[in-house]
This record gives sequence, C-alpha cells and structure tokens, in this order.
Amino acid sequence: MSGFPHQLEQRSTAEALCDALAERLEDQLRARRCGDRPLGLATGRTMEPLYAALVRRLHGWRTDELAALKACWSSFNLDEYRGLAASDPRSYRRFMAEQLGGPLQIPDAALRLPDGSAADGDGAAAAYGAALARCGGIGVQLLGLGSNGHVGFNEPPCEADLPCRVVSLSSATRQQNAGMFGGDPAAVPSSAITLGLREILAAEEIHLVVTGAAKAAILRRLLAATQPDPQLPASWLLRHSRVWLWADAQALSPP
Ligand code: GLP
Repeated sequence: MSGFPHQLEQRSTAEALCDALAERLEDQLRARRCGDRPLGLATGRTMEPLYAALVRRLHGWRTDELAALKACWSSFNLDEYRGLAASDPRSYRRFMAEQLGGPLQIPDAALRLPDGSAADGDGAAAAYGAALARCGGIGVQLLGLGSNGHVGFNEPPCEADLPCRVVSLSSATRQQNAGMFGGDPAAVPSSAITLGLREILAAEEIHLVVTGAAKAAILRRLLAATQPDPQLPASWLLRHSRVWLWADAQALSPP
C-alpha cells in the first residue's frame, strides 16, 4: 500500500486553504440534486474559516439558486458530546447553527447531528447510524484531525469496521477541546456519539483539513504511515481511494 494521501492540496495560510476548499465545495453544491447522498460535516476550530468562506460564497448566489440548495439540504455531522443540551453554547449543534445553519438559514432538521442529550446514548447512536443508512450514506465528507490522530471522535485504538456509537473521550482529546469549556479538561464531557470509521470510509469522497503548527506533529505521523494503524485512526483513510488532504504551511512545517 502506498502512503498517504492520494491527493495533497497545500496553501500558505489556513484562510487561503479554506477558500480553495470552499470553492470546490461550492461547485459540488451547485451540482447537487434533491435525494443526493448527504454531506458529511465536521466541527472544530479548523472548520470555522471553511464555513465562513463557504457562507461568503453562497451569499453570492442568486436568491432562487440558494433557495433551491436549501430546500434540498441534507447533512449529517460527525459527532456530538454527550450530556449537553442542544441549546448549550458548547454543543456541536450550536456550533453548526452559528457557523452554517444561522447564516444560511438552513432548517435545523436538515442539519442533522447525533442527539447527545438522549438518556439512551446507545439507542441515539444506533438511530443516527440508521438514519444515515436510509439516506444512502455520506457523499462528500469533511474531516478535521485530532491532535492524537482521531477523526470524528474515533479515538485510538480504533478499528475500521466500528459503526456509529457512544465513545469515551481520551484525556488528550479533553485537553485539546478544553478551550470551549473554560480551559478545564475535566469540564469537557467524558463521552460522545460519533460516526465510526465504517460510515466515514463508506463516503464517496473525503476531504481531511489540517491547519496550524499544533497539528504538525500528528500530520507528520500520518504522512509517514504506509498502512493503517489502529493507534492512528486517521490512517484508515489509506483504505479509501478518494481522499484529499488539505494542509497549510504551518501544519506541513518540519520539526
Ligand atoms: C474534535 C472533533 C473533530 C475535530 C477535531 C479537530 O475533537 N471531534 O471532529 O475535527 O477534534 O478539532 P479542531 O479543529 O478544533 O482542532
């Protein structure tokens, strides 16, 4: 097996990178028809300039074109924390409403995320996976990269056939995401619902976005991988033939 990735898109800054990816997504959204496979969306700081660029571009569309896109909007987010109300400002549902749903006025029901507030987490995860399967699986999947190599909330070690499920979050991930929780890793929920590698690898096309110096070390590890390693969940992407890696100069910087 050859190394990762199959296609590499580099830009000097995160803004330039996100604008280039937003342009590509815009073209794909123009070609979308009702009933097409849903978009697979991600959260996290990496995605903020991407959604901002996409919103800017879509606001330039003719009113009727944008209305047609929104009428057929269908997306499934990767993951959601458990134990936060949907209205909690730290929930991924709120993140999506702020970054994309609000600015584009996409109805909440069309912008789907796992129900992190459900008392029955396993049931909510199974229902989410089943809803995605009924829609035919993901079309275009956006992914960020965790500093421990996770994608979605698929923490290491992780196998390729694991489906949508409840997961425990590692201390590395709770540390990484503490910023939204007053800087306190202990305040970050200890579990989440995530799509598994099973659903992610079944996407038609995947765009992994990695920006900033803080991701340089994990990106080097990923680029050095020649075969999937359960300790590096993102390395399962080696199994997929249509993966693009989008990285800025800082993420690609040497040690
Ligand atoms: C988070 C999320 C991922 C996200 C990744 C990177 O924990 N579960 O979906 O892509 O880690 O986050 P960030 O972009 O904030 O670095």
